[in-house]
Amino acid sequence: MTIDSFTYALHVLGALIWVGGMFFAWMVLRPATVSTLAGPARLTLWLEVFRRFFHWVWVAVLLLPISGVAMLDSRFGGFAGAPQYVQIMMGLYLAMLALFLRVQMLQLPQLRQAVSREDWPAGVDALGKIRRLLGFNLLLGLSLVAIAAARANI
Ligand code: HEM
Repeated sequence: MTIDSFTYALHVLGALIWVGGMFFAWMVLRPATVSTLAGPARLTLWLEVFRRFFHWVWVAVLLLPISGVAMLDSRFGGFAGAPQYVQIMMGLYLAMLALFLRVQMLQLPQLRQAVSREDWPAGVDALGKIRRLLGFNLLLGLSLVAIAAARANI
């Protein structure tokens, strides 16, 4: 295994963990909790889910640009030689990072405070905002992976 193929594997694993985790949360866990849990239990569960999942998102958020920039050097001789789909990848990464940081810094503390105060309406409001941002980030992530895999220079 070369250093480049090892870096590539780390990069794809980072993408898999982040985008796959969001897909599972949005498409599977969200409808399952809506149909089985009442408000307080649901909010408490989501708080714990985000706390654990976001540790892994932080790993992916750091791993992706580090491995990506290493591949930029080894494969394309730096930023200037990067094909258009890699430049799109970097742009979408920044958008995904901004949405993730927004949830981590603003909405998650709101949800945590609402749950600790047992203020369920405020908790439902905070969770609704997280759901929308996470759904949008999932769409960005899926588009990014499709563009990268197709090497689509759009
Ligand atoms: C600063 C951020 C990033 C940089 C510099 C970067 C850079 C790169 C580079 C150089 C490649 C190799 C392209 C090739 O050899 O044709 C690559 C592949 C890939 N990247 Fe990124 N990337 C970044 C962020 C992301 C993100 C956020 C995701 C998904 C969440 C992602 C998903 C992928 C995937 C799935 C591939 C494999 C494409 C394939 O060969 O089929 N990247 N990236």
